[in-house]
Formats: sequence, structure tokens, C-alpha cells
Amino acid sequence: MDKEKFYITTPIYYTNNYLHIGHSYTTIATDTMARYKKMRGYDVKFLTGSDEHGQKIEESAKQKGISPKEYVDHITNHIKDLWKLLNIDYDYYIRTTDEKHIKTVQKIFKALYYKGDIYKGHYEGLYCTPCETFFTESQLKDEKCPDCGREVNNVKEESYFFRLSKYQDRLIKHIEENDDFISPASRKNEMLNNFLRPGLEDLCVSRTSFKWGIPVEFDTDHVVYVWIDALSNYISALGYSSDDDSDFKKYWPADIHVVGKEIVRFHTIIWPAMLMALDLPLPKQIFGHGWLLIDGGKMSKSKGNVVDPKVLVDRYGVDAIRYFLLREVAFGQDGNFTNKSLIERINFDLANDLGNLLSRTVGMIDKYFGGTLPIFIDSDDESEKNIKDFSNDIIIKVEEYMDKMQFSNALTEIWNLVRRVNKYIDETTPWVLAKDEANKNKLANVMYTLAESLRIIGILITPAMPNTSKAIFEQLSIKDNSLLSWDSTKQFGLLQKDFSITKGNVIFPRIDIEKELEQLDAMIEATKAKVNNKEETKTENKTEEKEQIGFEDFLKMDFKIGEVLECEKIKKSNKLLKSQVKIGDKVIQIISGIANYYTPEEMVGKRVVVLTNLKPAKLCGEVSEGMILAASDNDNNLKIITVEDSENIIKSGAEVK
Ligand code: ME8
Ligand code: MG
Repeated sequence: MDKEKFYITTPIYYTNNYLHIGHSYTTIATDTMARYKKMRGYDVKFLTGSDEHGQKIEESAKQKGISPKEYVDHITNHIKDLWKLLNIDYDYYIRTTDEKHIKTVQKIFKALYYKGDIYKGHYEGLYCTPCETFFTESQLKDEKCPDCGREVNNVKEESYFFRLSKYQDRLIKHIEENDDFISPASRKNEMLNNFLRPGLEDLCVSRTSFKWGIPVEFDTDHVVYVWIDALSNYISALGYSSDDDSDFKKYWPADIHVVGKEIVRFHTIIWPAMLMALDLPLPKQIFGHGWLLIDGGKMSKSKGNVVDPKVLVDRYGVDAIRYFLLREVAFGQDGNFTNKSLIERINFDLANDLGNLLSRTVGMIDKYFGGTLPIFIDSDDESEKNIKDFSNDIIIKVEEYMDKMQFSNALTEIWNLVRRVNKYIDETTPWVLAKDEANKNKLANVMYTLAESLRIIGILITPAMPNTSKAIFEQLSIKDNSLLSWDSTKQFGLLQKDFSITKGNVIFPRIDIEKELEQLDAMIEATKAKVNNKEETKTENKTEEKEQIGFEDFLKMDFKIGEVLECEKIKKSNKLLKSQVKIGDKVIQIISGIANYYTPEEMVGKRVVVLTNLKPAKLCGEVSEGMILAASDNDNNLKIITVEDSENIIKSGAEVK
């Protein structure tokens, strides 16, 4: 009989930045599921890739002075290296700059156009360039992008539209009738109540304001909207509409699209509507996982919260990171990433529980039997039966949880077994048994039970921790693949009776938590500083690129000397100071991002240079009516510009030009 197919995907990653541990989370989870399904006998196709078009990428490349293609090649190499490091065993890597993908997207666009589902019109709206998304006024948060909090621009363009509205009723029906389509269930209600039931508008699906995208074949001023481009990857990778579409025939529809919660909307509304328009079957499930947070905020470079997965893997090994991510955060919910929780998990779960079980078992077999267990006599031992039953119960639960992608629960169950077996050692006290030759059989029996439990544990953790399971099997000298299959866990006692151990290294060395925390914090700070510097260099480059201005432009700016009368910290922010600045006979309020460099006391009395005709703006709820000038460099230094005048001749209100 043919194997049942299982097609699972990650999102394709934006190639506008290096990836952080949050990105790795999606991929590690998907990899774990793919490995599990392979072990369960499925013909698995695991797709990942990179999303390489869009205005933001075009701009980043320009800033770096390289072509967009050079830029995305560089980032794609970085992503592939990272997946290698994290032991991601994908079956296909799609790039949206692949010829094969481009052709498919063009065909899809054309097909929808001729069908009448794409039509030409005008778009006017508020656009967030970094997020490549249009918003309505009401969707904005404090007049800024609701997703990233940055400025949006008013954009008017001729563009093509996709008749998303036409599919609204069918979408609602499909989502209501197919409970598993959007998972977890909470995300289903969010889509229905917040987006579908209020009504869908047609979607703008082309852009003319930049070039780095897939050209619309029949109107080459337009490039295809990045989400239409990106979503198509799931079928272009299978050869849809190409000369060889055998994979498409075999693997489509997808069994699971794994995506982060912020892109569930694209995958459960736009993507299925596109597929409906193409008369193609819909994916069986979209699984929206939560975010990995730092200090309660989503990790992102802009917030400076970068946690470099490479640094962590170098320090603790890939399986420690895989284990931590899968175990610490219930898949579907948000979870916090802290250095402390990471190190504690490694120390307690991995070093103490699992690592210890292995080294104790191997150590005792070495010590009491010279490394080779004698053929032991099955004594129908009660305590052994106890472990066997316990293990069988655990396996059933692990399967249930893994099938639902509840990795944290699955690992919790496996660790219940690990702890139970550790307890078994304490119950049977092998060191006491070893004192009396008469107990030799009993002792061998205990050792065998330990080793067999470790074989089963090793198999159960294989999808999540492939390297660690290998290390366990090596130390137990298990080479026969039939003893390593998932199904073999269901038979306790398969391990050959007279096996030998191969002593190996400690799989998870114990960590001095306090010392390690200090070092780790310092390291993360250093990475942060590096990233910040890079960011500043970028803005600095921008400064260098500014075009020439005429004297009349300079005269538009009203620079005056101001005297700081009062200054205080803004409570809601750790960066901002609020100053009352006297300019001649006026006093204005200025909010400046200088709290890391100056105390309020230091500011009072300073005569500073102020841009006084800057449009008032609100920062952290406080009005700022001007700007105090300061000089800053890439090494995180900042100095206020003051007047070189120790005799106090220049008074506040004096013009600066
Ligand atoms: O969204 N915690 O790409 P992307 C958990 N190109 N997951 C996180 C995360 C965090 N802190 N940060 C990012 C895109 N992710 C599009 C997808 S698919 C047709 C196009 C996850 O590189 C995020 O939720 O911004 C998403 O699932 C994945 O990383 C890729 O994000
Ligand atoms: Mg994103």
C-alpha cells in the first residue's frame, strides 16, 4: 500500500533581515512535526523558503549599495545556514525569486484576470512600507501602523484588485463548517468576528511605486502585491501549472500551514479565496502559533530585543534550544523568552533529569557488569512491570499530543517517564543489590529496564531532539533500526538482552546558573549594541545621501538659543526628558530622547540650540514644541550642542544661523 502523504509548510521568511530566535521557533516546531510524521510512516513533504520581494527589500538593498538580488541572496544564504545549524530537515526550499515561482505567480495573476476576479482600478489609502500593508484610518493605532507602530503614508496608485468580497460567504461557510481549518479555535472566532462577518473589501494586488517584485505580464508597470506572490509559494513549490506538476497532484492540498498568529489572516482569508478563484482545494489546516516574547513584547530588531539563535546554539547545543522552545511555550499561545528560563530548563530537565538518567545507567552497567549485561532471567519483576505499564500509558498520550501539535504537553509526558525511571533507580537501589552476588539477576533486570526505558525515551524525543536521541542510542550501542522505529516503543523488552554499552560524553553538562546568567546577559547586551550601531550607521548613511538644498531651504528653519529652566523625566518612558525652555520671552516645552545621557539636573541652566519652528508633536502623551540639537555617533555617544560662551553674553532667544 502507498504511504499516506503529509504536506506541511512554514511561512516563507522575509529576506529583509537576519532571523532571530522567534523565527526559529516556527521552523523548529514545523520540523518536529514533519519528523514525527515521517516516523509514523507518512510520505512527508516539508516545505520552507524565503520571501524575497517588496519595497522594503528594494530599499534595504539600495541603502547597502547592492542590487536587490545580491541582497536577498545574502540573506537567503544566512537563513539556509541557520536551518542547517538548527537541524531543520526540510524537503524543499522555495525562493520567490526562483524562475519556477515567478512563472507560476504570473500564470495565477493572468488566470484570475481573465476570469474577471482581478480588475483594474485606483487605490488610495494609508500604507505601511515596512509591513507592506494598507490600513484604513480606523485600523491605525495612535495614527501609526497597528502592527509595527511606525508612520504610515498616504498613497494613491492605479492598481489591480482581487474580488475578495465575492468569496466572503463561501469563506464564512467553509470556516464554520470545518472546525479544524483554523487552529487553535480562538483564532477561528477572531477571523470570523473581526474580519469576515464585518465584510471584506476587494484587495489591492498590484503596485507601481516600486520595481522589486514579479511584473504583471500584461501590464509591466505593475508588480504583483507581495502577499499574492508569497502565498503562491505553497503551490509553485509543488510545480503547480508547470510542465511537471506531479508533486502538486500528489501533495496538494496541504495538510498543515504552520504560521505565526499575525499572518493567520492572510492564510485563512486571502489564500483560500485565491484558491477558490483558481478552483483548487483548500488546505486542511492553518495552525496559528503564538509569539515568543521578550519582556512582554514581540521580538523584533526595531525594539532591539534580538536574540541570536547562533549564539545560543553555540553555547548550549541545538537540541537544548529546540527542547526549550517546544517545551516552554504551549504551541498556539504566546510565551516569554528569558535567559533564566532557558538555563533552568537546560539544567533541570536536560542535565538533571535526562542526562543524569543516561549517565547513571551507563555508569552502573559499566561498574557492575563491566559494560556488558549478562543474559538475564526474566523474573516477572513487579517494579519492572510497573515501568512498562507507565511507559505504555505515556506513549499513548504523547501520540495524542503530537498529532495535535501540542509539543509542550508531549514533552511534559515524556519527562514524566524520565522522572519515573529516575525514581525507579532510587526504589530499586542497585548499589545495595550490587553488594550481594545473590542479587546479580535482579540487578541485571534493573539495568535492563533502565536501558530499555532509555531506548523508548530516545525514540519519543527523536522528532524534537534528533541529536540527543542519537547520542543515547550510541551509548546503548543500539544499531538495529527496527529497535529505533516509533512503533517499536510499543513493545517493552525489544532491546537484546546481552547488550554492551559504549561510554560517551555527558549529554548535557550542568550549568552554574548564576554565573551563566551574568555571562549570557553580557553577551546579549553586546549583540544588542552591535545591532544598534548597525542601525545608527544606516541612518547615518541616509544622512550622507541627503540631497543638496538651497539657502532658502536653510532659512526655513528657525534655530534659536534656548535656556533650560526646568527638566524632568517622563515616567512612562526611560528615554525621554521633558524640558521647559526659555526662548527670549517665550517658554516652550520640548521632549527629547536624551534620558540615557543627561540627568534632568544636568540639563537645567544649559543654553542649548533649539529648532523652534518644528511642528508640535506628541511623544508619550506630552506635547513637544521644538527640538534640542545634539550630536551623536555610532558608539552610542550623545552630546547636547551648547554655546561656547563662558561669560554668558549670548542670551536665550538669540538666533542661530
Ligand atoms: O511573515 N515569535 O515572514 P516573516 C514567534 N514573509 N514567531 C515569530 C516571531 C516571534 N517573536 N517573529 C517572527 C512573513 N515569527 C511572511 C510570510 S508566508 C506566505 C509569508 C514568525 O519572516 C512569524 O510569525 O516576518 C512567521 O510565522 C515567521 O516567523 C516568518 O515571519
Ligand atoms: Mg512578519
